[in-house]
Amino acid sequence: MRTTVLIVAAGSGSRLQAGVPKAMVTLGDGHTMLEHCLDSVVAARDAGAIELNAIAVVVPGDPDHAASLEAVCHDFAARTAVTVQTVPGGAERADSVRAGLAAVRTLAGSAGSAGSAGGPFGRHALLVHDAARPFVPPAVFDAVATALESGTAAVVPAVEVVDTIKTVTGAAPEEVTGTLQRTQLRAVQTPQGFDLTSLEAAHRLAEEGAAGAAALTDDAMAMEAAGHRVGVVAGDPLGFKITTQLDLMLANALLASGSAAPSTPSTNLEHH
Ligand code: CTP
Ligand code: MG
Repeated sequence: MRTTVLIVAAGSGSRLQAGVPKAMVTLGDGHTMLEHCLDSVVAARDAGAIELNAIAVVVPGDPDHAASLEAVCHDFAARTAVTVQTVPGGAERADSVRAGLAAVRTLAGSAGSAGSAGGPFGRHALLVHDAARPFVPPAVFDAVATALESGTAAVVPAVEVVDTIKTVTGAAPEEVTGTLQRTQLRAVQTPQGFDLTSLEAAHRLAEEGAAGAAALTDDAMAMEAAGHRVGVVAGDPLGFKITTQLDLMLANALLASGSAAPSTPSTNLEHH
């Protein structure tokens, strides 16, 4: 199934406090988080996990930061021959996804309307992915893509939760109001997979609703609210999101020990 990947890289990275947007932060091998993320998409394509159509990357609105990430995308496109389009993001992640969806629709062409190229139902697969997850292995892309192939409109990769999760009053001094059954909880990662047309409709619906963009912390939430069933496939510990300095230290330790793939432009030269 033809697949377009939407990478959201427009966040400021306020919790990482690196002084630059998170996607621009360089890991221990000298390559940025966005480069790693882009490389993981091509690795998935090369492993036969996804039939890659194109990539849309949502970059910060600030021109200097945008230029820096656009240069990364340009270099990546030049060495892999993958079509990459950049688009400026918004204040919240959901705003950035919505900005990216317009670009994805153009990249996907008319696939998605009934009877068009792309099968009898005209389905086009969309993977929405965080730039802040640099090490997602091909197997996760494969599991998500396979679920989409089987006809599901939404699928998320997930891992079990290790902590006990409690609800609290919120106001200090906080008090526990309940404990969630850990066996029923999952930590959800990206790439999240969707039928493109269904996700477009779900985001439009969510935009019209009362909850603001900040409340929509992932895209599956929009599909849930629109009444879709959301499938779950196995995520991977390497799909963790770099949010804090501790996560960055883990990322660099994984690179140093060879447990995570370094960003190696030369391996993609054969695709020129
Ligand atoms: N993101 C985005 N646009 C936003 C906010 C987030 O494109 N307005 C992207 C980030 O670039 C990141 C992904 O969404 O790849 C996950 O968000 P998160 O980890 O929260 O990143 P930031 O919002 O940048 O970090 P923080 O919340 O610490 O400021
Ligand atoms: Mg954020």
